[in-house]
Amino acid sequence: MENISNIPELALTVVPNSIASDKSSIPVLGLGTAAYPFVASEVAKEAILTAIKVGYRHFDTAAVYQTEPVLGEAIAEALSLGLVKSRDELFVTSKLWCTDAHHHLVLPAIHKTLENLGLEYLDLYLIHWPMSMEPAESYDILFKKEHFLPMDFKSVWEAMEECQKLGLTKAIGVSNFSCKKIEILLSTAKIPPAVNQVEMNPLWQQKKLREFCERKGIIITAYSPLGAKGAPWGTNGVMECETLKQIAEAKRKTLAQVCLRWAYEQGVSVVVKSFNKERMKENMDIFEWELLPEEVDKINQIPQKRGCQASELVSDNGPFKSLEEVWDGDI
Ligand SMILES: NC(=O)c1ccc[n+]([C@@H]2O[C@H](COP(=O)([O-])OP(=O)(O)OC[C@H]3O[C@@H](n4cnc5c(N)ncnc54)[C@H](OP(=O)(O)O)[C@@H]3O)[C@@H](O)[C@H]2O)c1
Repeated sequence: MENISNIPELALTVVPNSIASDKSSIPVLGLGTAAYPFVASEVAKEAILTAIKVGYRHFDTAAVYQTEPVLGEAIAEALSLGLVKSRDELFVTSKLWCTDAHHHLVLPAIHKTLENLGLEYLDLYLIHWPMSMEPAESYDILFKKEHFLPMDFKSVWEAMEECQKLGLTKAIGVSNFSCKKIEILLSTAKIPPAVNQVEMNPLWQQKKLREFCERKGIIITAYSPLGAKGAPWGTNGVMECETLKQIAEAKRKTLAQVCLRWAYEQGVSVVVKSFNKERMKENMDIFEWELLPEEVDKINQIPQKRGCQASELVSDNGPFKSLEEVWDGDI
């Protein structure tokens, strides 16, 4: 078997309010599984199995990505091949889609996710977006404005807490939440979110949100760390950034490695998608070298622009009338 590199872990506070505070951890580097357009199941399954072979132990999926079943199949095969000894060696995240973001639909949704994955528990379950949509029979990654509804944070989060209490997930968290929306959630939460998964890369560094989450003990997971080039939610700007190109050249690293190393040095966990074995390995090779202070300074000076604006969330009758409201001014 190939060399398995050791990916460092970040402490994840699972039940911070309990007396016997249960500590868990999240591997800092995970494999994203959102591919657009969707890829054939066999291709995705083989890619995930390859990722396990080369050493990935943290996997990010979501009900809406349609990769839960293939991730489950890859995990089952990895177990039967002895690539991992037990399911506990893996860290699996999935997410509640907006159509299920209603108090009474959260438990059925996590049960469906677990059934898709063939697992008894998740490591982390996230609210995918801070918005609900009218319940639907099937998942569609395209947002339909006429179905938008404001989310009742209190009751949806109570159901998320129930998922954790029942042992269906070890930790719960949110995704695409601004500081203001986290404050609202925290005002009634009994279990604070362990993680906020958001876009983060050298072109959208999330300094304000990171400082806020650090104060609240919430781990940031960076998605689209390479800018998701070619995806409808992505930008070519990261992979084409001249500053990053120059740093990569000088260090004899790739631009992707510079992005991932930078994110790692910021103390966040990162999920990066690649279904290509060589790029998977390249993306893991970020732990035995570091950026120089002057390189970090240059990255700090890159003009900031959100790649995933999510302007499709703006609608006349939905919860967000403007981009200002989606991101609470952080645009
Ligand atoms: N919570 C949310 O709302 C949300 C939103 C977006 C994403 N996510 C999660 O975050 C994960 C990662 O983000 P992402 O998929 O949006 O974008 P990303 O990881 O920044 O970029 C993925 C793209 O970069 C390519 N790539 C990967 N490694 C590379 C390398 N070393 N050199 C050059 N190209 C490389 C991939 O192609 P190949 O596969 O061909 O290598 C793919 O086209 C997703 O898969 C998903 O799990 C969450």
